[in-house]
Amino acid sequence: MADQYAQFREGDGPLEIPAIRWDEPPEGPVLVLLDQTRLPAEEVERVCTDAPALVEAISTLAVRGAPLLGIAGAYGVALAAVRGFDVDDAARALAGARPTAVNLAVGVRRAQTAYRAALSGGGDQRQAAGAALEAARALHREDAAASARMAGHGLALLDELLPGGGHRILTHCNTGALVSGGEGTAFAVALAVHRAGQLRRLWVDETRPLLQGARLTAYEAARNGMAYTLLTDNAAGSLFAAGEVDAVLIGADRIAADGSVANKVGSYPLAVLARYHHVPFIVVAPVTTVDLDTPDGASIEVEQRPGHEVTEVTAPQVPVAGVEAGGGIPVAPLGTQAYNPAFDVTPPELVTAIVTEEGAVSPVTAEALAELCDRSRQV
Ligand code: MRU
Repeated sequence: MADQYAQFREGDGPLEIPAIRWDEPPEGPVLVLLDQTRLPAEEVERVCTDAPALVEAISTLAVRGAPLLGIAGAYGVALAAVRGFDVDDAARALAGARPTAVNLAVGVRRAQTAYRAALSGGGDQRQAAGAALEAARALHREDAAASARMAGHGLALLDELLPGGGHRILTHCNTGALVSGGEGTAFAVALAVHRAGQLRRLWVDETRPLLQGARLTAYEAARNGMAYTLLTDNAAGSLFAAGEVDAVLIGADRIAADGSVANKVGSYPLAVLARYHHVPFIVVAPVTTVDLDTPDGASIEVEQRPGHEVTEVTAPQVPVAGVEAGGGIPVAPLGTQAYNPAFDVTPPELVTAIVTEEGAVSPVTAEALAELCDRSRQV
């Protein structure tokens, strides 16, 4: 195991395998995912030949993170169309695979709408499938571009909020190239800070129970040669108390019209800590994550995940998301019930700024968000 880790460490640069790619081998088109349940032990691909395989990959978090879920959902619809399956069935199953990240439903709808529009415009099945695939590819490209712009806006905001540089940034969950067509959301900002020579330390929350921070963010930070330190989620409080955190940067799965932010469980306690300690709490997300149809935080559906993710740790070292109950090492008495929400919701008054590809919103208000979405629609 030690050797496996060693070969990926210290500034190896971007991932060898992209988080997602469309491929057309002779046997027929496929969607190829970097299987995130296997990181950091190994970078291996998982090949999906139909929508049910992709639904399984989404539910087990082999592919995950809001922007990437949107891209995956769009490609999933294209896959169903190209392979001649029922597109509406596939779209329904994909959009329902996980409820909280709005990007998933948005991506699915975009490819489905392109497919239907091509058919109703007189196109045949092959042309409609082509239109769905082009919609997925466009979303993929746009997400990469949005990621680069968020990084620029985030860097500028940090310079403004924290003049003098040498930032110590705390982050939660995983928001890098593994969740994006580009370099991610919050992590892309941290990477920009690092490249500008201004990152003193990236504090990485391990992110219980599926350890996206330990397994994925630490992996990406190591590959990019960033100065990073891993901590248990519970250690964040003492880190703030010691004055070791200059800013919190997180992503988002859904931002309601009032500015409430759903993100990986554990984000809300960080927002409370940040407010108490007068530290900026910054959310970085593409405009596609803003959902004006969800009025407020209470209206966001928070995914509840199986209790065995909490009551068991999967052998040997690396937990495998979605492993069958009983497949891991029990860390609680048999029959223990677990509370396992995948996300929590931070109210807008605790969020210093929301950084998108269209710029930053601060203070976070319903009016400012609506105006941002309007602006983005006009581009
Ligand atoms: O359950 P996950 O791993 O899909 O949760 C991911 C997160 O919470 C991310 O922070 C969020 O999707 C934003 S990624 C840009």
